[in-house]
Amino acid sequence: MITKHLNSSIAGVIDVAVNYLLKGELVAIPTETVYGLAADASNIDAINKVFQVKSRPINHPLIVHISDVNDLQFWAKNISDDILNLAANFWPGPMTILLEKKDSVLNQITAESPYVCIRIPNHSIALSIINKLGRGIVAPSANNYGFVSPTSAAHVMSDMSGKIPLVLDGGQCSFGIESTIIDCTSSNIKLLRPGSLAVYEIEKILGKSINIPTQTKKRFSGNLVNHYQPNTPLLLKSSKEVDELILDKKQNNYGFMLLQRRNFNSQNIIYMPQKSSEYAHNLYSTLRYFDSLKFREIILELPPDSNDWLAIHDRIYKSSHK
Ligand code: TXA
Ligand code: MG
Repeated sequence: MITKHLNSSIAGVIDVAVNYLLKGELVAIPTETVYGLAADASNIDAINKVFQVKSRPINHPLIVHISDVNDLQFWAKNISDDILNLAANFWPGPMTILLEKKDSVLNQITAESPYVCIRIPNHSIALSIINKLGRGIVAPSANNYGFVSPTSAAHVMSDMSGKIPLVLDGGQCSFGIESTIIDCTSSNIKLLRPGSLAVYEIEKILGKSINIPTQTKKRFSGNLVNHYQPNTPLLLKSSKEVDELILDKKQNNYGFMLLQRRNFNSQNIIYMPQKSSEYAHNLYSTLRYFDSLKFREIILELPPDSNDWLAIHDRIYKSSHK
């Protein structure tokens, strides 16, 4: 299959994408977090194709993306005032909520779970596609399973070319890491995946703190499944360890993703932004870039341990080789 890579500003491109979705085909689309691999959420064959194309195990459920908060009740039950309040404040935006699913939601989406994840993305292309299709789409990150998520259409092409008919190019994703997932299946709201929306923003709106699993700081998922991983081994190092390594004569074999400025520059050093939101924006693209240079290892200088960096810590621990 030849994959078309079209600029999303071309006239008629939304219709082209929707026609593919109606035929049960997959289309990669930009969102504000990462690129998504979209399929019609009412079509079992199309959903199965998502798992095949990504080589994703079928027990990894998918997020349903909708365009209007009024559609929430089509997908989910027991929608509390807290949930409506969060939706009113953060949608469209990088927040995904886990709720009890309606019986009509396909079990292939939720991996047989009675709960479903839902979000409204804040991207005009994604929203136009959902509106025109007239129903929800599933959209996991448009990368091969376990690999680094894509934040540009070029990233998607390198993983999906030949496997899907269309990639819509909307430029770089503004956030650069995935949405924050919160479990809203009880009044005790829990963080399931730290992400682009900061926990303190959610807490501010709720007027109460949410439950953050204790292992979050280090290995959020609690499982050591390789995820978000470049092919090149990624090693996380303290600033002191970086200082030692960088003096090593063999430094050309390594790519360095540094935070503290040191008094030399070289092609194999990238100074990452000091601000966590900007760091997040560049993280996956830098990992993919260094991966393409085929270093022996990528050395990443650990960011601060503060809450601002929670989602970044989660992703770099999962990306690193244990
Ligand atoms: O920012 C994002 O959320 C992006 C963009 C494309 O919207 N999507 C994304 O999807 O990150 P994906 O499939 O790469 O990650 C979805 C995560 C998975 O870790 C999955 O386990 C969790 O959401 N998830 C989805 N449905 C779930 C469910 N019913 N129960 C528990 N976890 C669920
Ligand atoms: Mg993913």
